[in-house]
This record gives sequence, structure tokens and C-alpha cells, in this order.
Amino acid sequence: MFLLSYSNLSSSTMKILAVLLMTMSFISLGFSEKVASNSSDSDHPYEAIFNFGDSLSDTGNFLSSGALAFPVIGKLPYGETFFRHATGRCSDGRLIVDFIAEAYGLPYLPPYLKLTKGQDVHKGVNFAVAGATALDAGFFYQRGFGKILWTHDSLSVQLDWFKKFKRSLCTTRQDCDKYLKNSLFLVGEIGGNDYNYAAFAGGNINQLLATVPVVVEAITNATSELIAEGAVELVVPGNLPVGCSPLYLTLFQSQNKTDFDENGCMKSFNAFAQFHNKHLNLALDTLRNKNPHVRIIYADYYGAAKRFFHKPGHFGFSGETLLRACCGGGGPFNFNNSARCGHIGSKACTNPSIYANWDGIHLTEAAYRHIAKALIEGPFSHPPLRSSPFKIP
Ligand SMILES: *[C@@H]1O[C@H](CO)[C@@H](O)[C@H](O)[C@H]1NC(C)=O
Ligand SMILES: *[C@@H]1O[C@H](CO)[C@@H](O)[C@H](O)[C@H]1NC(C)=O
Ligand SMILES: *[C@@H]1O[C@H](CO)[C@@H](O)[C@H](O)[C@H]1NC(C)=O
Repeated sequence: MFLLSYSNLSSSTMKILAVLLMTMSFISLGFSEKVASNSSDSDHPYEAIFNFGDSLSDTGNFLSSGALAFPVIGKLPYGETFFRHATGRCSDGRLIVDFIAEAYGLPYLPPYLKLTKGQDVHKGVNFAVAGATALDAGFFYQRGFGKILWTHDSLSVQLDWFKKFKRSLCTTRQDCDKYLKNSLFLVGEIGGNDYNYAAFAGGNINQLLATVPVVVEAITNATSELIAEGAVELVVPGNLPVGCSPLYLTLFQSQNKTDFDENGCMKSFNAFAQFHNKHLNLALDTLRNKNPHVRIIYADYYGAAKRFFHKPGHFGFSGETLLRACCGGGGPFNFNNSARCGHIGSKACTNPSIYANWDGIHLTEAAYRHIAKALIEGPFSHPPLRSSPFKIP
């Protein structure tokens, strides 16, 4: 979602801190098999994936943007698990979007800001930027806290990139319609940062609640615009259970037991995420009614991730590791703002696969894998995503 630093919470001094087209061999094998056996549409449901969002799905845009001189996401232990080097992903390894690409037999999406001349872009591009908001930067400047934004590459900026970029994907109206009709559009997760920035600028829960309608509108506006551009199959994810994240648990620590649910998560912030998700769902219903020819799929990140806390063992996590970040600088949740993951004084756990949370804010590859699986294999996409030719292990 975002990377934040609050160097001194009590004085409210806050600062924002801070590819690859690699196809795994089994995928390329699978690919040639399918081609050889005269592939049908159902074998490879999508020609391309286009992704918009924030750090939950950024595969390198923020790092390429050069917004920070020495971003920690540009070095190990970020990327240690799968890629074995930092790629600009805010995790130890692959993200949900990477697992979705694998499942549909497509390459990992190259980040838009890192594209080079002649690169094959016809299987999709990623426009997501870590730290991005659903609302434009102006909204936050008007309210006096624009300076804490990590990036101005909001959802509408990403959408403008796509509109310009579309010209290099297809030319005639007919061409474009056909190509985009066979593409999958992932609109988010986005919106989490809008609330995070507001919360860290000192907004109380009522002020956060009041921004939900406009954040949701920004998301549905972008979805509408993509439909107008020719998108026919879109996935719009909701927010994660942020009340279970080491960052929130550390920032808003409380001695009052009634603030926590039976899994140790903060009730108020989980309720807030659910409130956003409920509004988003209502807005998506309206959008579906207006566009009966389009498939708008709600991806229930909240439900898919909340399972980790109910049954950690089922996912290879444990009760002890669940509310702790794998990589951090100590404290009850292993989130220490003076020693965030990648900074001096922090260290990564030896086995990230038994942790759901990577750096206090973002999830581990292990958690993203389970979420992606839950979205594709069900039952956390409404209506369901198309079945994939490759199973997520
Ligand atoms: C959504 O689109 C409508 C119509 O173009 C516009 O009036 C409104 O300001 C937009 N909302 C946001 C949050 O961008
Ligand atoms: C704990 O929170 C509950 C609900 O907000 C409140 O009724 C109660 O007084 C609080 N207890 C303490 C010890 O602050
Ligand atoms: C947080 O990190 C700072 C800097 O490394 C360190 O001095 C402090 O002891 C750490 N706090 C905890 C709770 O581990």
C-alpha cells in the first residue's frame, strides 16, 4: 500500500520515505504444449493484463521513477525470495499480480516507467506506483498535507499513461476493441493510501469515513473510463484487513483489550476497511447495471487475507509469526520506525514463508500466493475469475 515514516509521532512530524519478462520454465513448456495442441481461448483466457494500483502491485515503477535517491525497496532483502535481487516490488518475492500472470500463462508485467524501445508490450504492462492514491494529489494539498505524498502518480495519472500508451498496442478501432476485449484489467488495490495519508496527517476515524465516498468514486470513475476505452473484463479489489498489520498495530497501540478482536487485530481499522469495501461493492453494482456487456469482478482481498488470522496453520503460518513482520527492527510486532526493513538496525527473518507480513506494511510472497490462489480458484472473486490453465502451487 505505501511506505511511511513517522520520525516522531508525538510531535506529528512525518515524512514519507521510503524486470523482468521472466517466464518460469514450466510456463514456457506449458506454453509450447498449448500452442502445439492448437490452443483455444479457454486454454489462454487473456491476451494481456493491464494493472493499475499502488505498492501492492507495483513491479518497479516507483523505483524507476527515481522519486527517492536510496529507496530500500531497491536493495535486498527486498526481492530475496524468488528473484534473488531487488526489483522494486515491496515484498520478499512475487506479488498477487505476478501469480495471476503466471496462472494465465503470461509474463510478469513490465513496469511502464521502465519500458525500453522495442520491448514486447502486447502481453500487458503494469502502471501501478508504490504510494499512489486513488484521488489526485490536489485533494491532499487542499487539505494541507499534500507534502507527505510519496508520489503524485495517482490512479488518474496512471490512466492517462494507459490512454497514451494504447496507441502503441493497437491502431484501428476494430483492432483495439478486439485486443482490449481479450485483456484483463486490474484496477487496484488502490485507495488504501488515501486513508493512510489522511490518518498519518492526524485525521480521526470520522474524517476517514467521510472520505470513503469520494475515494470509491475515484476508483469507479477510473473503471468507467477503462470501459469507455474498450475494457470488458475488469477486476476491482477491495482493501486488506489493515487492523491486522504490524504498522497499524504499532502506530495505534492500545492497552484496552476491547480494541482487539480474537485474533489480536484492531477492530476499528478492520471495520473501516470493511466499510470501504461495502461502499465499493455498492458502487460496482451501479457500474454493472450501466454496463451489462462488461464483467466487473470484485476481488475480496479482505476475506482472502482474513483467513490467515483464523487458521494460520492452514497456510503455513503460525500464531507467533502472524502479527509480526518478517523484516523489521524489533518491537512487539517487529515494526520499528527507526529501523524499518532495509534500514540499519533491521533484519529479515530466516524463513519468510512462515510469515504473512513482510515489512510491517506489505505482505510476503507466501501471503500473496495464497491470496492470488483464493482469487483465481475461489471463492474470493465475485463473479469468479476465469479458470486458469496453470494452477498456483
Ligand atoms: C468522477 O467523475 C465525475 C464525472 O466526470 C466527476 O464529476 C467527479 O468529480 C469524479 N470524481 C472523482 C473523485 O474523481
Ligand atoms: C475500553 O474501550 C471500551 C470501548 O471503547 C470502553 O467502553 C472502556 O471504557 C475502555 N476501557 C478502558 C479501561 O479504557
Ligand atoms: C528501534 O530501533 C532503534 C534504532 O535501531 C533502536 O535503538 C531501538 O531499540 C529499537 N526499538 C525496539 C523496540 O526494538
